[in-house]
Amino acid sequence: MDPRRLKPASVAAQALGWVDDKTRAIAPPIHTSTTFIRDPDNQYRSGRIYARDQSPAFDQAEAVLTALEGGRASLLFSSGMAAATAVFQALAPGDHVLAPRVMYWSLRNWLTGFAAHWGLEVELLDMSAPDEVRRAIRPGTTRLVWIETPANPLWTITDIALVSEIAHAAGAAVVVDSTVATPVLTQPLALGADIVMHAATKYLNGHSDVVAGTLTTRDESPLWLRIRAIRAQLGGIPGPFEAWLLTRGMRTLYPRVQVACASAHAIAGHFAQHPQVAEVLYPGLPSFHGHPVAARQMRGGFGGMLSIRVRGARGASGQDTAVATAANVALWKRATSLGGVESLIEHRASVEGAGSPVPDDLLRLSVGIEDTADLIADLEQALERARGTPSSDGELGVGNASNR
Ligand SMILES: Cc1ncc(COP(=O)(O)O)c(C=O)c1O
Repeated sequence: MDPRRLKPASVAAQALGWVDDKTRAIAPPIHTSTTFIRDPDNQYRSGRIYARDQSPAFDQAEAVLTALEGGRASLLFSSGMAAATAVFQALAPGDHVLAPRVMYWSLRNWLTGFAAHWGLEVELLDMSAPDEVRRAIRPGTTRLVWIETPANPLWTITDIALVSEIAHAAGAAVVVDSTVATPVLTQPLALGADIVMHAATKYLNGHSDVVAGTLTTRDESPLWLRIRAIRAQLGGIPGPFEAWLLTRGMRTLYPRVQVACASAHAIAGHFAQHPQVAEVLYPGLPSFHGHPVAARQMRGGFGGMLSIRVRGARGASGQDTAVATAANVALWKRATSLGGVESLIEHRASVEGAGSPVPDDLLRLSVGIEDTADLIADLEQALERARGTPSSDGELGVGNASNR
């Protein structure tokens, strides 16, 4: 059946319905070969010479993602950072780049450190404020506008269509880190972006057992061809098994994201009323500043990520009470990362350190696919313990000693 006539959830569930020609296997083989036979007439009719950029191990994951994003082509990378930095490496020294002040911290650090040292002029601004973008963009000099929406870890929402319009009018390309939205909830290319990026380590794979990144392009632009050449020459690629796991992970992308979204929304609503929570940051809450744009550009949910700001208890600071809350969860796992089937909690300022725009009382929550009531109960008891009063329910019978 023509995948263009199917709903994306069907495309993902069957990984485009590919069947191995030789064996008729539904689960694809894992291609490990690094090199391919040259034809007797000295040609390479298979189209493959060497696996640094031509491994068949990437084909299915790249094709599935291209279909889900409605793009022209995709590339797998060895990590989200490898994918993102390939985009910036494709620019030239002196190029002006706009990026959000609130974004995935490791990429922000690389941009303001390494990339700036390398000659890119990186300007950070509030990407959710189109007037700031209009003021900062320099026609003919700004080459790239980087968007992350919702953006880590305040879940700031950027209007992709509007910023793309502003960027294109100035001759700049737009790249969207859509890791948190996933193709289930947002289609950046249809909204006007040129390239969409994912830390496939997160929702695309979904099981906290693969590090990978992806880029998908709307067309074969000169920028895309340079990015493709960079991957081919530098080889920032995943291994065959990681690519295979990623294909498998994407088969359950839709139900995983749908369950996580519904649960995150319920958790956000619940803790928005909680006396120990000063603020809940979640794009699905009508009170959230980016909600109207999120409601327009996200479909079917507002994501599985939210943050809560914890009130200080009994003379302790909000920061200390937040850290104590994270120390007292049982079902939630106290770990970094996001987008896996297991729910994670993290005191984000401890990770980001000095210079971070993240409030020190903020806990970032990645909601997995466990039962929503169990997640709420666990966070309730952790808040209660952090306040110094053990909950009357006692401990949940889950978790392990290391994250108490
Ligand atoms: C939004 C976002 N972008 C990019 C990355 C980088 O991905 P990776 O860890 O696979 O390099 C992350 C990782 O946390 C992320 O959350």
